[in-house]
Amino acid sequence: MQVHVADHPLISHKLTLLRDRRTDSPTFRRLADELVTLLAYEATRDVRVVPVDITTPVAEARGVRLSVPRPLVVPILRAGLGMLEGMQRLLPTAEVGFLGMVRNEKTFEAVTYAERLPDDLTGRQCYVLDPMLATGGTLAAAIDFLVTRGADHITAITLLAAPEGIARMEKELLGVDVPVNLVTAGLDDRLNELGYIVPGLGDAGDRLYGVV
Ligand code: URA
Repeated sequence: MQVHVADHPLISHKLTLLRDRRTDSPTFRRLADELVTLLAYEATRDVRVVPVDITTPVAEARGVRLSVPRPLVVPILRAGLGMLEGMQRLLPTAEVGFLGMVRNEKTFEAVTYAERLPDDLTGRQCYVLDPMLATGGTLAAAIDFLVTRGADHITAITLLAAPEGIARMEKELLGVDVPVNLVTAGLDDRLNELGYIVPGLGDAGDRLYGVV
């Protein structure tokens, strides 16, 4: 797995505000949205395009357009939803599929409770959105799910990642024979005993949508 930690002062600035416990939900949502758009720029560096001939007002020219099938964006419910608009801003023609996954708070294992994705993902580039790569169980399970359906290129986008989560993903994805990239705004120190990223930003879903 290729890991890219976005290194940009604007990203660090927004991430610092996002981490601050005093940041309220509306501001948190706006910052997450802006951060994802900045990360999406990095994450789509490998997006597939095909050559196309066009005519400008001045001359014939050769350009590119996104190839078909379109990229598929997959937010992992619930917190990944807070990243969808920021991603769609850069990839408005991408299709969107949904994966509902929840972490068992005792075992930290990922359980799939909802899924709305094409049955056949052969040849699809997928962008998986999940704000927190903590233990890595959820993202690894999501990626395995997409690869089993035929996806052949996966990029995960997270706001924060923990070293333990990256290590677990690398281990679990050893047998996965498609390129997997991770683009994150920050790589934090560790996980605490409750599975939270330290220093982190708390529970991303709760901070986006409140405690329900
Ligand atoms: N999920 C979160 O929302 N926050 C963490 O720190 C870890 C997992």
